[in-house]
Amino acid sequence: MIYVLFLKQNPFIFSLYSSQVIGDLMNSDINDIKLAKEGKLKIEWADQQMPVVRIIRKRFEKTKPLKGLTIGGCLHITTETANLARTLKAGGAKVALCASNPLSTQDYVAASLVKDFGIYVYAIKGENTKTYYKHVNQVLDLKPDITMDDGGDLVSTIHTDRKELLDTIIAGTEETTTGVIRFNSMLREKALKYPIIAVNDANTKHLFDNRYGTGQSSIDGILRATNVLIAGKNFVVGGYGWCGRGVAMRASGLGAHVIVLEVNPVRALEATMDGFSVMTAKQAAKIGDIFITATGDCNIIGKEHFKLMKDGAIVCNTGHFNVEINIPELKALAKNIRRVRPFVEEYLMKSGKRIFLLGEGRLINLVAAEGHPPTVMDMSFANQALCAEYIKNKGDKLPIDVHPVPREIDDKIAILKLQTMGIKIDKLTPEQKKYLSAWETGT
Ligand code: ADE
Repeated sequence: MIYVLFLKQNPFIFSLYSSQVIGDLMNSDINDIKLAKEGKLKIEWADQQMPVVRIIRKRFEKTKPLKGLTIGGCLHITTETANLARTLKAGGAKVALCASNPLSTQDYVAASLVKDFGIYVYAIKGENTKTYYKHVNQVLDLKPDITMDDGGDLVSTIHTDRKELLDTIIAGTEETTTGVIRFNSMLREKALKYPIIAVNDANTKHLFDNRYGTGQSSIDGILRATNVLIAGKNFVVGGYGWCGRGVAMRASGLGAHVIVLEVNPVRALEATMDGFSVMTAKQAAKIGDIFITATGDCNIIGKEHFKLMKDGAIVCNTGHFNVEINIPELKALAKNIRRVRPFVEEYLMKSGKRIFLLGEGRLINLVAAEGHPPTVMDMSFANQALCAEYIKNKGDKLPIDVHPVPREIDDKIAILKLQTMGIKIDKLTPEQKKYLSAWETGT
């Protein structure tokens, strides 16, 4: 399991590295370095579909804007994250990664990052909570100047157990809605001690990654785990934020009858007018075939719902934390639990009914599939790379706050993405610009 041991037991590996890289990377903790070959091929495959990140990497290689920085990332260890890490390293940074979820690591990617790209990695798919936090702390031991979170675990660990690091950290970035919510609540309570850039909130991030990325990859996760037919099913989506919208849209495209659960009246109206049924969780529990939560909140599906569900109902989550489905309550109702396929657990209820829980209630797109496709992660991670450069340039001039991604960065990424897709768009004429800035002209 442990790379340190593997290196000690396999001295021939040493010949693959420069002695300086080896000495350092020995510290990594990954599943199996022998997976590196597979990882490198898959990282390169994803890179072909990440042209914006590639453009940034080329510039970074020449100008080294991140020289001298250590960047600590708590991110899903995927092929797409690997291409971000390569880019940050090309910019001159030392990069250390741990997983942002115990089940989302692609072990082959971790291996290749260490072996082929000189990135420190502390992540093993299936690690328990203790190892997960050991890995978070190993990244922090390298004293990052910038933190890159997906869910906020680096920032929260620094603010609770590793306060000594607060003196040297310049700023952090946050990849996902859940993390941004956590940091805003820290800010409100005056607990946040360094500035954060909310990458999630950039238009070129959430409008694409959350909607099309989560939409496609969550369905992909359900299909890979179960091989069920979506057409004709009652498909219940908890939450109609950008992720829920994406999942509902794609399930509908596959022929499901989509039912949306929402607490926000405007979003509930929107879901209705988008053509979906909207109802309460209890109403949906009785008729749903497949349930997926995408709310960012806890206990969306609990015992009162499990009791009403049909035999054979499939339940999963695509929100950041495994709190949306109340698994302890499901366990309490079960008389037997068995794994029937990878990432599928059958809960046999005392009533004789079966409920299938996918991916232990963790984000199904990363647990059973490969996460969002590289085409959308290209924009998300272009935001991360350019925000790291922005933080370096701003230095300690950035006040403590949860900052939006600067508009110029967001727009630049959209322009680059369109260019790489070969799409040209019109420009406003001077007359049109003038019209838009005038208030006098009426009917
Ligand atoms: N979050 C969702 N999908 C992802 C991916 N492919 N890589 C990194 N983080 C992700």
